[in-house]
Amino acid sequence: MWYFVSPQIVFGDGALDALDELEGRRALIVTDGTLVRLGLVDKVKAHLDTAGIEVHVFDAVEPDPSVQTVRKGVQVAQEYEPDWIIGLGGGSPMDAAKAIWVLYERPDLQAAEINPFIHLGLRQKARLITIPTTSGTGAEVTWTIVLTDTEEQRKMGLGSRENVADIAIVDPAMAAGMPPQLTADTGLDALTHAVEGYTCTWHTDMTDGLCINAARIVFQYLPRAVADGSDMEARERMHNGATCAGLGFGNAMASLAHAMGHVLGAVFHVPHGRAVAIFLPYTIEFAAREAPERFAELAALVGQPQGLPLHRDKERARALAERIRDLCREVGNPTSIAGAGVERVAYEAQLDKLIDDAFNDTQMITAVRAPSYDELRQLFLYTYEGKAVDF
Ligand SMILES: NC(=O)c1ccc[n+]([C@@H]2O[C@H](COP(=O)([O-])OP(=O)(O)OC[C@H]3O[C@@H](n4cnc5c(N)ncnc54)[C@H](O)[C@@H]3O)[C@@H](O)[C@H]2O)c1
Ligand SMILES: [Zn+2]
Repeated sequence: MWYFVSPQIVFGDGALDALDELEGRRALIVTDGTLVRLGLVDKVKAHLDTAGIEVHVFDAVEPDPSVQTVRKGVQVAQEYEPDWIIGLGGGSPMDAAKAIWVLYERPDLQAAEINPFIHLGLRQKARLITIPTTSGTGAEVTWTIVLTDTEEQRKMGLGSRENVADIAIVDPAMAAGMPPQLTADTGLDALTHAVEGYTCTWHTDMTDGLCINAARIVFQYLPRAVADGSDMEARERMHNGATCAGLGFGNAMASLAHAMGHVLGAVFHVPHGRAVAIFLPYTIEFAAREAPERFAELAALVGQPQGLPLHRDKERARALAERIRDLCREVGNPTSIAGAGVERVAYEAQLDKLIDDAFNDTQMITAVRAPSYDELRQLFLYTYEGKAVDF
């Protein structure tokens, strides 16, 4: 037995207008300071004004939100008593909003206790709307909540199917102002979701098509969105593609590149999308030796490199890895950890922690080829150097 969960999704140009019809009394917008300064919060407020809904803004969410920030947000919610919580931003504010909502409804719980195995009984006090301003995480449609334990420098994968948003508003205008680097980082996150959602051991008939479509969209439109941010066709397709990838991997799972990317992000603060996309090709090459089939299929579906006689699945899977590295280069992103600016001495000093924490990451369990301790160490080292994996 399996489940597919999704919010009601309003998407495309003008999607924000859906807020005009919203019924309720008070909304708490969970966001970050940059989005207030960019005027995106005011845009949302204007629609809520039209709907006659009072608004309070909690704008203290930092990139890779911490448990402490969530606690502050819960306190604000308890004082303000909203009947809507609105996560407005990239994955960080949307994940923080999910956690704040759950703990506002369930003050008896700690953030770390939010998991799929307990009944939460949400929607007694409020409902959740997500509005993405990056085209990447898919957090608007996933039930995953990623929070950072700043003391242990560790990311925690939390969440329950119950805490998926009620409504996701996927309006390309909200992402149109992203600078090129953020466009590239977050777009590569969407690609990593699509590839890992398609190839992980939990993929299903319900998720495969979404992942293939998302991968195609990213290959076709990400270079355009990075080269010219005013290309609204590319922006809109990337915004939709990120949501498709979110539905795909969110109802399946991500995999090894996410397990490794999470720990790199937690320790060295490499932005999430940049980190997971660096690992992705190396993890594909690692999987290619024992389980290349689905990577090979995906390579064919997204268009194989020209002129290469690729007769075998393993070669095709490796070609997909190379194609992803080419895309990273094309949008100006690094293809190794050294290239991401992490010092070798600092990296080696943290290697044992990186390996241990990656093994404890929830995304590890769905890898098609499970690495041993030594293999994971090698994978971290090869990815540091930028050496193609051949073991
Ligand atoms: N829940 C999930 O399913 C899921 C999936 C993937 C990643 N994540 C998590 O999401 C977080 C990363 O989210 P993210 O990559 O979207 O970035 P983010 O939310 O951390 O934002 C990064 C920066 O971009 C800025 N920004 C956001 N939108 C902008 C815009 N339109 N214009 C200009 N600047 C803008 C923000 O203010 C912030 O400074 C990580 O914590 C990651 O672990 C969650
Ligand atoms: Zn991701």
